Amino acid sequence: MKVVHTIQELRDQLRGQLQVAFVPTMGNLHSAHLSLMKMARQHGDPVVASIFVNPLQFGPNEDFDRYPRTLADDIEKLERERDVYVLFAPDVNEMYPEPQSFQIQPPNDLGGILEGEFRPGFFTGVSTVVLKLFSCVQPRVAVFGKKDYQQLMVVRNMCRQFQLPVEILAHETVRDEDGLALSSRNRYLSADERAEAATLYATLQQMRQRVLQGDYTPQQLEHDASKALGDRGWDVDYFVLRRQRDLLEPTIDEIRAGEPLVILAAAKLGETRLIDNLEV
Ligand code: PAF
Repeated sequence: MKVVHTIQELRDQLRGQLQVAFVPTMGNLHSAHLSLMKMARQHGDPVVASIFVNPLQFGPNEDFDRYPRTLADDIEKLERERDVYVLFAPDVNEMYPEPQSFQIQPPNDLGGILEGEFRPGFFTGVSTVVLKLFSCVQPRVAVFGKKDYQQLMVVRNMCRQFQLPVEILAHETVRDEDGLALSSRNRYLSADERAEAATLYATLQQMRQRVLQGDYTPQQLEHDASKALGDRGWDVDYFVLRRQRDLLEPTIDEIRAGEPLVILAAAKLGETRLIDNLEV
């Protein structure tokens, strides 16, 4: 695997390659990331991964400074798996040589709700860096995890609206044995919090069962799920039932008619904010 830190080196490595499959990450790689790389390998050649902790997508009170940076370990893991041909690991000056005054602002009805409401500027930061990374790597396909469901939709919409020649592939959420979705932020959890963290997925599954019964309004379902977590000490940002196609609230008739739905949740356990979702 070639490890490159500048855009020029990256372009030199990829000259003439038209079938690049790309996996953008912020590093601290775990098995979910490695599984995205495997999927990329099935859909393109060569596979390029990036590791870049993007300051533009962190709010002033978020964890940019303490976000785990483990480049040497990450390189070792990628070398072992042998799926990635080029790892692009730029520093902040390489990606942002000057203040990023042109930014991609996703529409409010997609980028301003849920994560966008609780993390203002997050999707502007994500869209902008993903567009920049696409411009550097020029992939034919790119793989994103479904754990960041709204992010996946924002990126898909951005590609469609800007006619980017990149196909966005979605990888199923990878979970630990107890159901907790793998995330670099899980490492912030204490041992007790880690044991409790599995309740998030369990609550998503319970809500899914109740959605399938078709007897409840979204408001009832959301209230009950938020209360169940709140009673166990979680601080819930949102726990909502939405339509897969646009993340808007379904009517009870749509629920009964089998509209494809997704339950999305974000909640804090102690200082750690976790997100997860489950399709219905
Ligand atoms: O999901 C992530 O790791 C990041 O949001 C991404 C897509 C790499 C952009 O920084």
